[in-house]
Amino acid sequence: MSALIDVRNLDFSFGSGELTQPVLKSVTISINKGEVVLMTGPSGSGKTTFLTIIGGLRQASNGSVKVLDQQLINSTEQVKVKVRQQTGYIFQQHNLLKPLTALQNVSMTLEMHNHMTEGERLAQAADMLKAVGLGDRLNYKPEQLSGGQRQRVSIARALVGKPRIVLADEPTASLDKQSGQDAVGILKQLAKELGTTILLVTHDYRILDIADRVVELEDGKIQNA
Ligand SMILES: Nc1ncnc2c1ncn2[C@@H]1O[C@H](COP(=O)(O)OP(=O)(O)OP(=O)(O)O)[C@@H](O)[C@H]1O
Ligand SMILES: [Mg+2]
Repeated sequence: MSALIDVRNLDFSFGSGELTQPVLKSVTISINKGEVVLMTGPSGSGKTTFLTIIGGLRQASNGSVKVLDQQLINSTEQVKVKVRQQTGYIFQQHNLLKPLTALQNVSMTLEMHNHMTEGERLAQAADMLKAVGLGDRLNYKPEQLSGGQRQRVSIARALVGKPRIVLADEPTASLDKQSGQDAVGILKQLAKELGTTILLVTHDYRILDIADRVVELEDGKIQNA
């Protein structure tokens, strides 16, 4: 089986000249369809940087980064957009839009699927919110929801477009043990149903048991790929 994410000898630095700060050093990792991979590592080791490169949100120019059979190194905007359209993101700070309801936050993601009518988008968003247990909170705004409920809206938002890849950056950082496990459990279960591949960055050792594999990014390298 060919890998869905295949990274070889990826180098990445911020800045240039004397201010060059190497962050990723010859990172190599291969992730298969449907795999749930957790990435840990010290603060500042480059985990978020790595996720943004994989997700087509940041350009890298050294090495090979194949995602969904697209080469992202020195890629065109068009190639990055193709990857973004098939990727769901969960950010550490949930990034929900405050003036919008849960339903509007989730259905907004579907606007890039322009073959859908607004009615279809809202129906699909409502279904996804029901799947994460928020069927009775569709019209609540983020500040009227608990931290765990907001996290579940983020999960619904990341999955509603049926992406092939979910990239999650410390999705349980602000949750207690039970809510964290619940949120990640929902993510894993829905992803299994859809065959989604998950790459999840976490410092949270309480959720390691949901992983198929745990890798560590340290000193810019993956230690146990
Ligand atoms: N836009 C930027 N410009 C310059 N340096 C940056 C930028 N973003 C991150 N860095 C630096 O790159 C390094 C890696 O940052 P990154 O955010 O990837 O770390 P991280 O592993 O996600 O850390 P944490 O666990 O704290 O979230 C850090 O030293 C940081 O200072
Ligand atoms: Mg980070």
